[in-house]
Amino acid sequence: MTTGSLLVVDLVIAVLAAAGWLGGGAAAAVRRRPLALALAAVALLATLARAITITALARAGWWFAAEKVLVAAPLSLAAVAAAGPRLRAVPGDIRSVAPALLFAGYATSGALLVTVLHGYPASVGAGLLAVAGAVTATAVSWRALGVRPSRLLSRVALVVAVGALVTGVGLTVGRDATPAVPHDHGFRDARTSDEPTRRFTLTAGTATVRASGRDVAAWAFNAQVPGPELTATVGDVVEVTLRNRDIGRGVTLHWHGYDVPNSQDGVPGVTQAAVRPGQEFVYRFRADQAGTYWYHTHSVSDVGVRMGLYGVLVVRPGPMAGLDVTVPVHTLSGLPLPAPRVEPVQAGVPVRLRLVNTDSTTHRYALAGTAFRVAAIDGSDLRGPTSLVDTAVLIPAGGRYDLVFDAPATPVALFVDGRAVYSTGPVSVATGDWPVLDPLDYGTAATVPWSRFDRSFTLVLDRGLDLHDLLPRYAHTVNGAADPDIPPQVVRLGDVVRFTIVNRSPIVHPWHLHGHHVLVLSRDGRPAAGSPLWLDSFDVRPGEVWEVAFRADNPGVWANHCHNLAHADAGMTMHLMYS
Ligand code: C2O
Ligand code: CU
Repeated sequence: MTTGSLLVVDLVIAVLAAAGWLGGGAAAAVRRRPLALALAAVALLATLARAITITALARAGWWFAAEKVLVAAPLSLAAVAAAGPRLRAVPGDIRSVAPALLFAGYATSGALLVTVLHGYPASVGAGLLAVAGAVTATAVSWRALGVRPSRLLSRVALVVAVGALVTGVGLTVGRDATPAVPHDHGFRDARTSDEPTRRFTLTAGTATVRASGRDVAAWAFNAQVPGPELTATVGDVVEVTLRNRDIGRGVTLHWHGYDVPNSQDGVPGVTQAAVRPGQEFVYRFRADQAGTYWYHTHSVSDVGVRMGLYGVLVVRPGPMAGLDVTVPVHTLSGLPLPAPRVEPVQAGVPVRLRLVNTDSTTHRYALAGTAFRVAAIDGSDLRGPTSLVDTAVLIPAGGRYDLVFDAPATPVALFVDGRAVYSTGPVSVATGDWPVLDPLDYGTAATVPWSRFDRSFTLVLDRGLDLHDLLPRYAHTVNGAADPDIPPQVVRLGDVVRFTIVNRSPIVHPWHLHGHHVLVLSRDGRPAAGSPLWLDSFDVRPGEVWEVAFRADNPGVWANHCHNLAHADAGMTMHLMYS
């Protein structure tokens, strides 16, 4: 079983246990004896079963089990100790068992809330609050049931509840008082002063565009979605003038995957101010990385990109033979882009399909009718890519794959989630059950260029309750904090930096670091065995642990965030800073 499904199973069992104890307690309170006993038996079994899931999770990593071992296990033991013995010798009046069953229910619910609302890392504060909650709720139930606990027991309960509450609140509030990220508002201009050789103007504005034969309201660059395809050759100096006609929430250009100087990175509030209606900003950078990239607004990026403020950036190493096709996939108002394109190609012509995922979720691409190779991922050429047939690839949000093949005499078609988006003629084939390529096993390995790391950071991705400006929100968190309270990763120029990224949540988080490409070292403890993978976007699936590394060679303040842009907006954004 994968760690992701273990996390789900453990959660389901925990809910079952809590519901069983609470239901059993309630049934006992109204003297429904058989029901009370049955529910309590289910709860007891579920509570004990968690020993298995928690042990299995602990073996997958402390991250997955920390609060379960430290908070849930002791509370579950207390629950079993309080309720278990009473079930063996149930007295004549089942009602007298109710407080014990209810305590077990409150204790297991409290532990569950710690997992769901607080997450990783487990804290003494959260544990104490769970204890205080369970004890207080039990005391209230006692009174409501009219069952009088002994004097001593009530006094002990009062002391425990108040003590746990006060200490727990103190510790929790203390934890949340982390300082905000010190953003660099100097906006130093490090634009290259060389004469531009490629000039573009992108004007952002509201527009009506066609998608799947329908008119759709969009935000567009030069009135088209996607925006114009920007092309350059390695060595060019690219200059892009961004104008904002009427996008009230501001616009910027971020060169996704292009490791530009920090001042050109287009992150509002960090590297520049957002460009307001009527304003403009000029970006200039040297095109020294060949490959497939894309650009998009980084101002209210979730809405902005979804509404259409994006386009493709292709940098070629020089003149290229054959057919070069870009396929930027997007969902605009629920409608898929691009429109299907059919163009016959002569047999023998080399074709390069540049697949770009500009959505916030993973897409599945399947190329039918030909053998092909994955020549590059995220703009970087792979080493020794072998020929593949009837194999699908999964491209994470923000990611790019370049597929190459020589056109066969028979038609070829590219399917995205089962929909043909590009073809050279009619192809009818079901690709849904094709195996999926694992890039960590594809191509020829090379040794990792570093043997030691100057800095190591662990990023544990989760969900939790976050109090920012006293407004509670259910945020996507990193190490228990949400933007802007996540401490930045501070590095020095030249450092070799390692990130361990852990996904404790039940949803995929496509990770994206600006300004750098990271080399994949391992996933779930298994070293990458294929071509070196230099990625800027990679899916960290539920329960996965990725280890990646990079050399800190591009000074500045860089966004480091989930590229499910809704998650990024809901807390999952932080920064890499050079000291
Ligand atoms: Cu493509 Cu910060 O994002
Ligand atoms: Cu995410």
